[in-house]
Amino acid sequence: MAGTEIRTDEGVVIFEGSPHKAKVLYGNLLWTGALALSKFFATSSAAPPVKGRSCLELGAGTGVVGLTLGSMGAEPVFITDNEPELLLLMKKNIEANNLSDRVQTFCLDWADGKSFMQQLPDLVVAADVLYEGDGSMFCHALAKHLRIGAEAYVANHHNPDKCEEVGLPRRGFPSFERQC
Ligand SMILES: C[S@@+](CC[C@H](N)C(=O)[O-])C[C@H]1O[C@@H](n2cnc3c(N)ncnc32)[C@H](O)[C@@H]1O
Repeated sequence: MAGTEIRTDEGVVIFEGSPHKAKVLYGNLLWTGALALSKFFATSSAAPPVKGRSCLELGAGTGVVGLTLGSMGAEPVFITDNEPELLLLMKKNIEANNLSDRVQTFCLDWADGKSFMQQLPDLVVAADVLYEGDGSMFCHALAKHLRIGAEAYVANHHNPDKCEEVGLPRRGFPSFERQC
């Protein structure tokens, strides 16, 4: 599982996983949406306050967005995925950043309502999770984790072809979409 070690611009240490022999694990690697969303929270005046707020990251992969939020004082932060191997990688990344008092992993599968969290967070984040199908499974899981007054931030690498496929304009939509 040991792979490349990267330090993000926000100072978070991330170990990527090494390529998997048996199947493709997309979340083994850092995706640009996750780096952009981390930077957004750390640097943008449009970002919401995170200190002391509970956060949930869906499809977290390496966990970089949740770890960035944890390093900024968010708590508790749950970084989740449905791949057991990625949960191990995320645990390693939590330890590498000394964030085990604030950040924990959770096995959450968008396709399995029984795996959803009971306690709803203040903030839900996700990056580069809209790459397969029409995204409805992810949207269902996202909606189920939003309570009134909560906020969700979803960042996706801009893929013009994919936009057309699901009926979004090829150009002119913001990189960061405030969902509610
Ligand atoms: C392209 S990767 C992005 C990983 C990370 N968010 C990033 O941006 O670096 C997509 C992630 O979604 C996760 N994923 C895909 N289907 C899922 C499902 N049904 N439930 C939970 N996570 C899922 C994958 O395991 C993977 O970690």
